[in-house]
Amino acid sequence: MKSITFSNGDQMPIIGLGTWKSKPGEVYQAVLWAIEAGYRHIDCAAIYDNEKEVGNALDKAFKDGLVKREDLFITSKLWNSNHRLDDVVPALKKTLKDLQLQYLDLYLIHWPVSFKKGVSFAQTREEFFTYGDVPLAQTWEGMEEAKNLGLTKHIGVSNFNISKLEEIINSGTMSPEMLQVELHPFLPQNKLVNFCKEKGILLTAYSPLGSGDRAATSKKANEPSLLENETVKELASKHGVTAAQVLVSYSVHRDIAVIPKSVNQDRISQNLASIEVNLDEADMEKLANIGTAYRFIDGSFFTGAQSPYKLTDLWEKE
Ligand code: A2P
Repeated sequence: MKSITFSNGDQMPIIGLGTWKSKPGEVYQAVLWAIEAGYRHIDCAAIYDNEKEVGNALDKAFKDGLVKREDLFITSKLWNSNHRLDDVVPALKKTLKDLQLQYLDLYLIHWPVSFKKGVSFAQTREEFFTYGDVPLAQTWEGMEEAKNLGLTKHIGVSNFNISKLEEIINSGTMSPEMLQVELHPFLPQNKLVNFCKEKGILLTAYSPLGSGDRAATSKKANEPSLLENETVKELASKHGVTAAQVLVSYSVHRDIAVIPKSVNQDRISQNLASIEVNLDEADMEKLANIGTAYRFIDGSFFTGAQSPYKLTDLWEKE
C-alpha cells in the first residue's frame, strides 16, 4: 500500500477506513472486514459515538492475530468541548480507553470551534466558548503535551484554514503534522493544499465520495452528486472501475490520504482496490476542470444565530 511519510519517517497508509456515520451495530464488522481486506489505517473520532465498538473490533483483530498494533495507523480527534488546556489529555485518554489502545498514531483538533465542557452540539450562546475564552494556541499546547507524553505519535488539526494554521504554527513549539479537510473534485482547495505542502503539513481528504449518508437535515436541496458526475463516470468507464474508485484514486494521485467510509463488505474492498487505478495527467486535468464547486460539510451547524463563530472563521476563500 502506498503511504505518505511524516518528517520522522513514520508512514501513514494513503487509503484508510472512514468511520463517521458508521453506526454502532455496523462499525464492529466494518472494521474487521477492512482489516481482513488489508486496510491498515482507520480514521476515528470521539464525536462519532462509536469508538467503543471500534475498540472491540481492534481488540478482536489483535487477539485473533489478524494484525499487530504496530502495523495499524489509528487516528482520532479531540471534540470541541475539550479545548481547554486541562481537558485535552483527559479527552485523549478517554478515547484510548474506548479504543482499547495504549497510544494513537495521530490525534487531531476536530474543529476550530470551542464548546463548554460536556456540550456535544452547542446551540445557545452560553454553551459556546469564544476564541477569547479558549484561544486555539491553548488547545494546541494541550496537543503538544499529549505528544510529549507519548499518548499519540503525531498531532494535527482538522477543518482549519490558512490563517488558523498560521496561528498555531506561530504560537506553538511543534508544527501541525496533518490537516484533515473535505477534499474531492468539487472542492480541490488548491491554495490550502499548496500552503500545507510548502509547510510540510500532510493532508487527509474527508468526504471523498460526497458523504451521501449524512442526515437529510444537513443536506441542501439539489446537492450535486460526485458519484453521478458525468466526468467521474466517464473516467470510471475508461478505466473499467467504479465512480467511487475514481474519486478515491483522485486523492491518491495528489499524495493526499483519503478515508472513504463504508460499512458494506464489497464496497470496503472496492475502495481499497482504488490503489490500482492509474489515472493519467489528462484524467487529473479533466477532474481539475470538472466545473462544479461544492462543499458538502459547510459547518453551518456551528454558526447558528447564537454562535460567536462565522463561516469565515472556518473556511478559506477560494
Ligand atoms: P456504505 O457505508 O453503505 O457503503 P464518504 O466517505 O464521502 O463519507 O461517503 C460515504 C457514503 O458513500 C456512504 O453512504 C457509503 O455507503 C457510500 N459508499 C462507500 N463506498 C462506496 C462505493 N464504493 N460505491 C458507492 N457508494 C459508496
